[in-house]
Order: sequence, then structure tokens, then C-alpha cells
Amino acid sequence: MTKVIKVMALGSLLAASALYGVSTAACVGCHGANFEKKAMGISKVVKDMSKEDIVKALKGYKDGSYGGAMKGLMKGQVASLSDADIDSIASSIKGGSAKAPDKTEAPAKAEAKVVDINAKVADKARLDKEDLGNKKVVDETVLGLRKTSLFEENVKPNDGKFNRPAPGASARFERAYVNAPPMIPHSVDGLLPITKENNQCLGCHMPDVAKGVGATPIPPSHFTNYRPETVLKDGELVKEGKKVGLKADIGNTSDIKIAKAKKLNHLYQGRFNCSQCHAPQANVDTAVGNTFKPDGLTGDLKTSSNLADIINDGVK
Ligand code: HEC
Ligand code: HEC
Ligand code: HEC
Repeated sequence: MTKVIKVMALGSLLAASALYGVSTAACVGCHGANFEKKAMGISKVVKDMSKEDIVKALKGYKDGSYGGAMKGLMKGQVASLSDADIDSIASSIKGGSAKAPDKTEAPAKAEAKVVDINAKVADKARLDKEDLGNKKVVDETVLGLRKTSLFEENVKPNDGKFNRPAPGASARFERAYVNAPPMIPHSVDGLLPITKENNQCLGCHMPDVAKGVGATPIPPSHFTNYRPETVLKDGELVKEGKKVGLKADIGNTSDIKIAKAKKLNHLYQGRFNCSQCHAPQANVDTAVGNTFKPDGLTGDLKTSSNLADIINDGVK
């Protein structure tokens, strides 16, 4: 079986995005380009707050002394900002310069089609060159992954560019195969690492907010526990209500079937660490050509998944 190797999208998508760090690019999805909206329908209109109040609020979110029901979300937004960053953000909001993805970056958004990141990998000339079968003479530059002569002259590290556009300004990538976890198309600066207290991905991708910020909602599969319920009861190991042996004798547990996957009313904790499965992208080429062709990747499946439906098919 051929391995799936993904390459990064086209240079055009890497068109300069506002610096994600201290800029307000990350805020506009919720607060509006000029902070003129009530974020998620509940925040104050930040543009109408005084600079002092904005600074007070942002510092307060950071140390936990300010905020309402969704202060945890704002804490995630400001956790990595210094006092100086907060001051400069507040000034730019009041000075009207706090505009993120606008005309200069609009192309990526305007063209917001889904990018086929497999397009370049199966280039015929390249595959022929790299195919060593039945050849008397092979080009030395295809022998190694560095694609250089055997003297390894001029070997340079791969200069992958990770400066993706901020969330809301990027174009999504086509799925690699049916129900593959989608790659992260936007910048993750300031969002990683995900910790117990700070998971900003949820702030935009939870189903109830995702639509409002234009993000793909976290799918039903992530709210489902597909594992058999396993408990220790009176010294016996019980899986899905079936005794599977004493502590000393675990017995054969592989024949335990889950009667019904449990749909939870909260995110299943096994899905909490998003970046474990969803990876951000850099524009690097694959080390070798790739002849993988996904089966059945057509229509909606290029841009969305239906895993939970498939698993539930026929289950009553
Ligand atoms: C995912 C959506 C989201 C993002 C992104 C976001 N905010 Fe917020 N913001 C909110 C919500 C919701 C509140 C209200 C939170 C609460 O309950 O206190 C809020 C509150 C605020 C407040 C205080 C307003 C009030 O109601 O007291 C300020 C100031 C603010 N945000 C600035 C920012 C800045 C600056 C950024 C970017 C660094 C940002 N926000 C990013 C959703 C967001
Ligand atoms: C400020 C809001 C915001 C935050 C925070 C955010 N995202 Fe996104 N995400 C988006 C938007 C909007 C899109 C759609 C593409 C775009 O417009 O940039 C998106 C797209 C994606 C996609 C592609 C979905 C698809 O259908 O192809 C993945 C995967 C993703 N995000 C994962 C993450 C992960 C993981 C995190 C946390 C590290 C995260 N996002 C944090 C707003 C956000
Ligand atoms: C254990 C691996 C894993 C983890 C952890 C994980 N995902 Fe996924 N995700 C997947 C897979 C596989 C798919 C595609 C199949 C499916 O829908 O379940 C997917 C699909 C998605 C989609 C696309 C849904 C659609 O309708 O097309 C989004 C958005 C998403 N995940 C966001 C997240 C976010 C945000 C987190 C963190 C809270 C997260 N995922 C954690 C594996 C994971």
C-alpha cells in the first residue's frame, strides 16, 4: 500500500497575512473587523469601550479577575499576550488601525475554494524519474531523499513556511481520503500547545459557535464515546455489563461488542487534544512522488466527513 503523503498548498495562499502574534487578526472572527460586533452575541461592543476599560478587561481575563460566562474563552485569547501587547492592541482598537484581513488579504478569502493539496505529488515526469525498476542507469539525484548528488553538495534544509493566514482568512484543503482528519489551513500561532486550561480551538470550532465564525463545526464523532464501558465491580472486571474475569484472570476481552456508541452531550475527552490528529501545514514538497489515489473521494466528501453516519448506519 502506498503511503499518503501530503504536500502544502500553493505559494499564492501564503500571501502575507497580518502578523498573528500581537495583531488583532485572531479577534475579528468574533468581534468584527473594527470591533463593532458583540462577540458571540454576548460581549460588549469593544470599539465603544474606553482604552482603559479595554486594557482592564484584557488584563482581567488574563489573571481571571474579569469577565462573564465566557471568560474562559477570552482567557485563551489573551493568555500569551504581555502587558505591552495588551496596551498596543487597546491603542490600535481605539485608533482604528485594528483591522485584520481586509483588502490586502482578501484574495485568499474571495477565492475561498478548497485547495487540492495532492495536485503536485503525482507529476508523471517525476514519478518516471524516481521509478528505479528495470533501469540500467539511474539518476543519482533520485537515490536519496535529499535529491542531490552523492557528494551531497549544496544540501539545504527544507524551508517550509508555516506562516499561514489567520483563521477566517485561509482556504481549506481538500481531504486526503474519505473521512481523513482535515489539515489545519490557518495559522496556529498562539493557539498551541493545547493545555487542560487552554484549548482555543473550541472557542471557534464548537458546533454552537462555529457557524458564526465561519469555521467547520466539530463533527458528531467527536462527541461520541466509541469505547466499551469498563469498570471494576466487586473485584471483577466488567465491560459493557459483561463480566470478563477476575483481576488475576482478565480473560478474552476482544469479543466484547459495544451495543451502542454513547453520544455524549459534551466533547469526548479522547478528542480534546486536537493537534494530535489535525496538523498545521507548511509548503514543503513530498520527499518522493506519490501514486496514492483515494477511493470514492467525490462531491461533499472532498470537504466534509460522514464518519458518524457510516458507523451508525443500520444501528437502531
Ligand atoms: C472565539 C471568539 C472570540 C475571539 C477570537 C476573541 N474574543 Fe474577545 N470576547 C469574546 C466573548 C464571547 C467575550 C465575552 C466574554 C465574557 O463572558 O466575559 C469577549 C470579550 C472581550 C472583551 C471585553 C468585552 C466585555 O464584554 O467586557 C474584550 C476587550 C475583547 N474580548 C477583546 C478581544 C481581543 C483583543 C481579541 C483578540 C486578541 C479577542 N477578544 C478575541 C469572544 C472572542
Ligand atoms: C479564531 C477562530 C478559530 C480558532 C481559534 C481555530 N480555528 Fe480552525 N478554523 C477556523 C475557520 C474560520 C476555518 C475555515 C478556514 C478559514 O476560513 O480560515 C477553520 C478551519 C479549520 C480546519 C479545516 C476544516 C475543514 O473543513 O477543512 C481545521 C482542521 C481546524 N480549523 C482546526 C483547528 C484547530 C486544531 C484549532 C486549535 C489549534 C483551531 N482550528 C483554532 C477558525 C478557527
Ligand atoms: C483521535 C484523532 C482526532 C482528534 C484528537 C480530533 N479529531 Fe477532528 N477529526 C478526526 C477525524 C478522523 C476526522 C474525520 C472523520 C470524522 O468526521 O470523524 C475529523 C474531523 C474533524 C472536522 C471536520 C468535520 C466535518 O464535518 O468535515 C473538524 C472541524 C474537526 N475534526 C475538528 C477537531 C477539533 C477542533 C478537535 C479538538 C477539540 C479535534 N477535531 C480532535 C480526528 C480527530
